[in-house]
Amino acid sequence: MIIKTNILTCNNHVDLVFQKNAFLNINENKIVNITDNYTGDYKDYTNYLALPGFIDTHTHISQKNIMGLQKPSLLDWLDTYVFPEEEKFTNRNHANAISKSFFDNAIKNGTTCLVAYTTIHREACDIAFENAKKAGIRALIGKVMMDINSPEKLTENASKSIEDSISLYEKWHGKHPLLEYIFSPRFAISCSKDLMKEVGDFIKKNNAYMQTHLSENLDEIANIKSLYPGFKSYADVYYQCNLMGEKSIFGHCVHLTEEEIDLLKGTNSKIAYCADSNFYLKSGEFDIKSAEENGVVFALASDIGAGTSFSMPYHAKMSIYRQSHTQISPAKAFYLMTLAGAEVLSMQDRIGSIEINKEADIVFYDYTGLSVLEPESILSRIIYTDMSSQIKQVMIAGKELI
Ligand code: GUN
Ligand code: FE
Repeated sequence: MIIKTNILTCNNHVDLVFQKNAFLNINENKIVNITDNYTGDYKDYTNYLALPGFIDTHTHISQKNIMGLQKPSLLDWLDTYVFPEEEKFTNRNHANAISKSFFDNAIKNGTTCLVAYTTIHREACDIAFENAKKAGIRALIGKVMMDINSPEKLTENASKSIEDSISLYEKWHGKHPLLEYIFSPRFAISCSKDLMKEVGDFIKKNNAYMQTHLSENLDEIANIKSLYPGFKSYADVYYQCNLMGEKSIFGHCVHLTEEEIDLLKGTNSKIAYCADSNFYLKSGEFDIKSAEENGVVFALASDIGAGTSFSMPYHAKMSIYRQSHTQISPAKAFYLMTLAGAEVLSMQDRIGSIEINKEADIVFYDYTGLSVLEPESILSRIIYTDMSSQIKQVMIAGKELI
């Protein structure tokens, strides 16, 4: 398929690449060529602007229905809204309806790849995978693991939790080109050391993905200190349980100490920067400068339901607003919702930008009102104003979905 269109991408963290009236040659799932001239038939998308698909590195499918229900502190919010909602996922119809509409919303907003938690329920996680497959979205999905300090209906037996997670891993790992399993121990408050160690051993042996929450809120950290007195820090709990590594993604990381940053850096672990959510739950401000200076890879995340939107450009805006000392340019914010996300997933060779040999994950905006603007101003417009209604087509792995 040849598409004539206007391309705006970033192929590294600073430089934008803009190509007007370029011919995108897509063969099956891949971009095989980008040229200035072409003589055969082509699909005319010259009224569109092609951006790389947005990547959301941390979100909760199960929390779609509690979006906007706020408490200004994490643990209270979990108890009041999140856990009662997550208990409903024993119901297959509920699990099916929510995950289906979650993916529809994500795609409509230009998200082509997402990393998601479901609930503790094996079946609900499996249904989410089936719906992701039907929707055509690229996704890493995991069953939440919780075996201590949790409401009764959300407390699992540790060995059952491991067994269910491994059975989902075996069912979905490497079985579909767009889908991958990610082990998802919720956080160290709701997971026993034994459970976390077993997950750590499994992911190390199998080079599997893992996600959890780290250092989001001060009450949470105080709680961790009393639960894990023998450990140097919150991050050290995960480190000692073998949970750190290049395929491990830690959500939030708002209150890290230098030692904790060193652990993340030393293990090449990744951070999901949940800008909107950190604000919403009054968790605090992620220290972007420290992560950058220490070379820890991070990228943007919606963290729905503590995040209030499916739109990654909205979360890019929140990241700019939420940094009180560090200026983030529109180009940088654009990088944080595209290529940086691919780097967090160690998938930068396959996705994250519009380049030859990458997979064709592309968002097409209406270009009519944008064509008079310079590339940086186009991104500024897309990030600062709600342009989601101007998304006219979304392509994932070469397939048009709208
Ligand atoms: N920490 C543990 N669970 C959660 C969750 O569901 N959302 C957020 N924001 N933080 C968490
Ligand atoms: Fe989260």
